[in-house]
Order: sequence, then structure tokens, then C-alpha cells
Amino acid sequence: MGMHSMTRRDFVRLGAGTVAAGVAVKSTLLEPAILAAQTQAAGAGEKKIRFVSIGTGIRGCDLLRSARKVPTGVLVATADLYDMHQKAGIEAYGTDVPTTRDYRSLLDRKDVDAVIVAVADFQHRRVVLDCLAAGKDVYCEKPMSHNVADGQAMVAAVKAGKRIFQAGSQRVSNVVYKKAREIFASGRLGEVTYVEGRFDRNSPSGAWVYPIAPDASPETIDWKTWLRDAPDRPFDAARFFRWRCFADYGEGVAGDLFVHLLSGFQCVSGVNAIPSRAYATGSLTHFKDGRDYPDLLATLYDYPGMTVNLHCNQNNSSGEPIVFYGKEATLTIEHETLTVTPQDTRPEPEGYGLDGWTAASKQQYLDKWHAENPAPPTKLPEVETYSAPQGYDDTADHIANFFNAVLTRQHVLEDEVFGNNTAIACHMGNTSYFHRNVATWDAAAQSIKV
Ligand SMILES: NC(=O)c1ccc[n+]([C@@H]2O[C@H](COP(=O)([O-])OP(=O)(O)OC[C@H]3O[C@@H](n4cnc5c(N)ncnc54)[C@H](O)[C@@H]3O)[C@@H](O)[C@H]2O)c1
Repeated sequence: MGMHSMTRRDFVRLGAGTVAAGVAVKSTLLEPAILAAQTQAAGAGEKKIRFVSIGTGIRGCDLLRSARKVPTGVLVATADLYDMHQKAGIEAYGTDVPTTRDYRSLLDRKDVDAVIVAVADFQHRRVVLDCLAAGKDVYCEKPMSHNVADGQAMVAAVKAGKRIFQAGSQRVSNVVYKKAREIFASGRLGEVTYVEGRFDRNSPSGAWVYPIAPDASPETIDWKTWLRDAPDRPFDAARFFRWRCFADYGEGVAGDLFVHLLSGFQCVSGVNAIPSRAYATGSLTHFKDGRDYPDLLATLYDYPGMTVNLHCNQNNSSGEPIVFYGKEATLTIEHETLTVTPQDTRPEPEGYGLDGWTAASKQQYLDKWHAENPAPPTKLPEVETYSAPQGYDDTADHIANFFNAVLTRQHVLEDEVFGNNTAIACHMGNTSYFHRNVATWDAAAQSIKV
């Protein structure tokens, strides 16, 4: 493009110096929503939620580290099928509570109000249904379900038992997402028709090649119980530690990572729905270790009024942004910072389209344009950024939101319908990928069709 055919907009976009000089940036540090304030405001008094944790592996331990910051809850026991994870859970919370392999014995306890469930995805249904049947409120890790039927069964049980249920996509409680939701709802972005998100990584750990603990054996792990809702097979430590890779237990990158992007999308846009269609493609090129899932997955989703384009590449680490493209502004969230960049929508005379015109015709057009259009403002609206404080823990906020709801019987931020909708979108992505076809949601039959 020659300079002569550049419009003002092109110049602002191309010249980094011009942008810095012409566009002001206003940065705001967000206050953590944090719970102390929320919980006191909820008028909860001295009552504390007495909770147990079922599943104290990687995520279960992280949840306990966050839960100990939340003043309205107290851990009374844990359960896990693996001896080392039992000990790690106690260490993570920092209080010596009883631990067991048999979670059902904890559900019999009348002094337990709530349960945090962090077992593998295919185990959510059984554990959650048992907790609900025992009258407990439940925080269940994302993705809520391993398949559509599991999710529907959980939604029905929560409703039938009138229990509080929080799905565990912590970004729904994140202060940055809360701000993004406000901005989106204000209409300042203009019409948003396209959303793009990615969750990329480039390491064995990012592709779930987690180490196998040297003490893992049928003696230290109750393999039979762990495998109860999956096809029988001899003890396999790789499957125990790397269950995300296998379709019997997890949902690959869709269930592990898309679900976070989809939760962020639903949270910011206010769209709480199952997409009507999903089209996925991808490949397994690097991590050919016997896994069932691709290490690259790209999926296009149709939501009401919006196209959502997600990808996860486990062979390139290009970050985890989510971007909402509006007529008036672009909203990007990455690394706990939200940026609102206004679009330059000021009227301007045509540039490129005049390249084939004679000088005289061009001049005539420009004279007319300037006569008909008042001079636009010289300054663009400022770019705004909002960041969470360093070390901000959105999981603590998400747990606090759950405990508050248990205390007050008010609604959680990520209930069973929200969690089920995002999980179904993940299943649609995988269905499309494996069938090499568009997956549609059949609302009448409540099932995925290909
Ligand atoms: N929200 C997040 O950011 C996030 C991050 C990681 C994992 N997760 C989710 O958390 C869940 C757990 O993942 P993980 O990485 O901790 O897995 P993990 O394998 O490290 O831990 C799961 C634990 O559950 C235990 N378990 C399974 N069945 C049990 C039963 N019947 N009784 C007692 N214990 C049982 C296992 O022994 C294991 O120790 C998954 O749903 C995962 O998708 C969420």
C-alpha cells in the first residue's frame, strides 16, 4: 500500500509511534472481590460451612490451598483413593483432618454441609449424585460432565433436591471477567458478532504428560474403585495420572481447556446457552503416546448472534487470550488484564478506492466530501486496561461465592445449567472432530447430532 492511498485510520493502525502519541491509555487496578467483604455483607454471622473434599489430587490440593483463604468455610475431612494424594490434601489445607478412601462414609455425616468434588471427569456423575442424594451442596470441578447424559442427570438431581451447585470454572468469579461483563452489558463495545479464544501450550506438562509417582501401585491406589464407571482393565499408572488423554475418562483439550474459554465467553457475553452448531478440525502430530485426543483442536461455534472461534494448540505456546470484537471497540482479556481498544469509527474520505481515479476526479470527490462532513474529532477515545492485583486468586473467590450461596441460599455465579451448557459445547467440539462433520444440538431430543 502506497502512502498516498493511506487513510487516516490506516496511518494510526500502522504507525506505532502515532498510536502511542495519539491514543491515551488509562489503567485501573481492580479490587479483588474478595470474599471477606462478600461474606460479611451476606450477613452470615459466625456460621461456617463445614465441607469435605473428595479427590485431593492436582486440582483438589489447589482448591484446598485456596479454600483455606476463605473464612466462611472449614474443612472437616477428605477422601481419596490414592494414599499420597490423601496426605497431600491434608498438607495443602494445613489442618490434620480425617481422610478416607470411602467418600460415602463422609456423606453420612450430618455435620457436613457441602462437598468440593475434584475427581476425574468421568467420575463426576457418580460422586455428585451421591453427594446430592445425601442432601449436600456441591462444588464440582469443570468440565461438569463427561458426556451429555451425565450432565443432564446432574442438572435434574440438583433441581430435584433444591441443592446449591457451583461448577468449577473459576474465571466466572474473576474480578477481571466481572469488569468485562459490565463493559459488555453497557453496550460500549457496540454489536459483538465474533469472539476468538485460544489456550496454547508447548510442553509435555501442557499436554498432560504428568510424572508417574514412584510409589504408585495397586496397593497404594484403589484402582478397582477408580475404574468403576469405565471399561475394566489391569492397573495402569499412566492412565491414573494422565487420564485427560483417554476418552474413557476425560475429553482432551475440549474438556480441559475449551471449557475455560467457553465459561469466560458465557460469563462476559451473558449468553448462557448451548451452541446450535460446532465444526471442529485438528490433528495429533506430536504427542503420539497412545492417547485418544488431538494435540491441536480448532472449533467454530454458532451461538445466538455470535460466532465463537476457539483453538488449543499443544505444540506452540501463544498464550490464552479471549477477544470480543465489537463494532465500537475490541475487548481482550489475557494474563489477568482486560484491555478495551476503541475502534476508529470517525468518518473519513475514501482512500484506497480512489487509486484508479484521475487526479481531477479525486479532488472533486474530496472537496465534496469535506464540504459535506464536519471535521471529525482529532483524538480517539482512550484505551482502557483493568488488571487484577498480583497474586490474585480467583479460585478463592469462586469458592467463597459457593460458600456464600450455601449460607444464604442465594444463587451461585456458575450454576448447574451454566456448567452443563459449557460442557455440552465441549462434547460438541469432540463429536465434530471425531465424526469429521458438523455437530448440531438437537434441543427437542436434548442430544448432539452429526
Ligand atoms: N478449574 C481448574 O482450573 C482445574 C484445573 C485442573 C483440573 N481440574 C479438574 O479437576 C478434576 C480433577 O483433576 P486433577 O488434575 O486433580 O486429577 P487427579 O487425577 O490429579 O486427581 C483426582 C483424584 O480423585 C481421586 N478419586 C477418584 N475417584 C475417587 C473416589 N471415588 N473417591 C475418592 N477419590 C477419588 C483420585 O484418586 C485422584 O487422586 C477434573 O475434573 C479436572 O478437569 C480443574
